[in-house]
Amino acid sequence: MRWFASSPTPSRPQIAHTCFFMAHLAPAKTTTALAIAHQLYGPELYKSRVLELNASDDRGINVVRTKIKDFAAVAVGSGQRQGGYPCPPYKIIILDEADSMTEDAQNALRRTMETYSKVTRFFFICNYISRIIEPLASRCAKFRFKPLPEEIMSNRILHICNEEGLTLDTESLSTLSSISQGDLRRAITYLQGAARLFGSSISSKDLISVSGAIPVEVTEAIISACKSGDFDLANKEVNNVIAEGYPVSQMLAQLFEKVVAVDDISDEQKGSHMQEFVYC
Ligand SMILES: Nc1ncnc2c1ncn2[C@@H]1O[C@H](COP(=O)(O)OP(=O)(O)OP(=O)(O)O)[C@@H](O)[C@H]1O
Ligand SMILES: [Mg+2]
Repeated sequence: MRWFASSPTPSRPQIAHTCFFMAHLAPAKTTTALAIAHQLYGPELYKSRVLELNASDDRGINVVRTKIKDFAAVAVGSGQRQGGYPCPPYKIIILDEADSMTEDAQNALRRTMETYSKVTRFFFICNYISRIIEPLASRCAKFRFKPLPEEIMSNRILHICNEEGLTLDTESLSTLSSISQGDLRRAITYLQGAARLFGSSISSKDLISVSGAIPVEVTEAIISACKSGDFDLANKEVNNVIAEGYPVSQMLAQLFEKVVAVDDISDEQKGSHMQEFVYC
């Protein structure tokens, strides 16, 4: 597994002293950290070797001085394999949503991390690396998660549909992947919402309506009206959009994507359109 840097023997996996998992979306950062911990220790040792702290736990300096320090300080056995799991001789502290920790708490963590690095490894998970203080960030091996590729999203969504008895055709599947933009949680939420509202056979239109995305025909109509140079036509399309009450931010985001993708205007023209979007 690529998280385990330079593993000397298969029974002694080495992970970086501190790992940072970061991404703006939900491409399974938490799931990855939990999966690594489970693979290392198995169900029996997991509870005693792994401390998980998430956003619902207190994130002040007191937690670092008490709960985290107490857990980090205690050494564990020499790392005999148990039940086929590697069980390395260190523990793991998973700090989910680490960007919501106070600055004082982050400062206090620096020392704890260094002092107990032999017996405890840290996984920090965050959405915004800018909210992590530099001395902490620079002590970590960073893993930036990309949005999940369409193929992986689709496989998982199809698996869920299978288990839940939902029907999704190829068009709906690709619509779901594109409106959720590599965010698996968002895709699952849309699927759930559509299944509840429209029943087990879900169309592309159903998914668009639960997601709040603007139908492709609408954005395409605006773009072609603008290209035609016919002011009245463009005005009519804009009035349609206003009458439907589509959210402006969503409209701009979708128009942005469309403009970037068109190939019959120059990059300079695209740039000037983008500038106009920014002024909007
Ligand atoms: N390999 C997988 N198989 C099935 N479902 C998965 C897998 N990985 C992630 N998921 C599901 O995708 C969703 C998002 O995963 P996760 O909570 O790990 O994302 P995250 O990056 O931590 O998101 P956030 O930034 O919101 O905390 C969850 O519902 C999770 O159950
Ligand atoms: Mg998470």
